[in-house]
Amino acid sequence: MWPKWPRCLWAAGGLHPLRAPTHFAIPLFPSVTELTLVSLLTLREKIQQLSNNASGVPRLGIPAYEWWSESLHGIARNGPGVSFNGTLGAATIFPQVIVITTSFNRSLWFKIGSAIGVEARAMYNVGQAVLTFWAPNINILREPRWGRGQETPGEDPMVASAYAIEFVRGFQGESVRSSSQLRHGFEKQG
Ligand SMILES: *[C@@H]1O[C@H](CO)[C@@H](O)[C@H](O)[C@H]1NC(C)=O
Ligand SMILES: *[C@@H]1O[C@H](CO)[C@@H](O)[C@H](O)[C@H]1NC(C)=O
Ligand SMILES: *[C@@H]1O[C@H](CO)[C@@H](O)[C@H](O)[C@H]1NC(C)=O
Repeated sequence: MWPKWPRCLWAAGGLHPLRAPTHFAIPLFPSVTELTLVSLLTLREKIQQLSNNASGVPRLGIPAYEWWSESLHGIARNGPGVSFNGTLGAATIFPQVIVITTSFNRSLWFKIGSAIGVEARAMYNVGQAVLTFWAPNINILREPRWGRGQETPGEDPMVASAYAIEFVRGFQGESVRSSSQLRHGFEKQG
């Protein structure tokens, strides 16, 4: 199946100054499933899709795509998919996630995710971001010496799962304005 959400974005075009998504929204052959599309790729082409900077496949009309943009607690510059050197020179930065979650306030988590998602979409609209963002980080913080504990919702799986639900729902919006990608699941801690 082709993802449904680009059609939603198009449908919302009358409401927002949307730039039509180019990577996902244009089916090459409307009847071709993603599985079939994968079968058309050579081994080399498949491998070239496995990194954040996926190569294009011109013979199938697949453009190159940069999957890596950061939005952990605001749109950040440390991902090659985001640029601040255009119309938009800055974005809102919220506190580190370990601090956000100490509010234990689900509606606040949702609103923060939503605010970041709106800015992500705005940056995409002016050509300064892609539509896929690497957040939230839902590693369970088990080892205080691990250098990335501040990125996580903390040590409690219940809090981490609740935070992830609220952040992703807020970030993506009802019609999926941009896509949140959970991370990491396998990060080594200690
Ligand atoms: C992706 O990045 C790697 C590492 O920097 C580089 O070797 C490779 O050529 C890049 N691929 C594309 C398609 O830009
Ligand atoms: C702005 O950033 C993009 C992406 O990093 C780059 O391709 C472009 O050359 C930059 N433009 C200027 C004026 O620096
Ligand atoms: C939780 O966050 C909301 C904003 O989403 C705020 O209005 C409310 O006061 C907060 N609740 C508490 C107990 O701080």
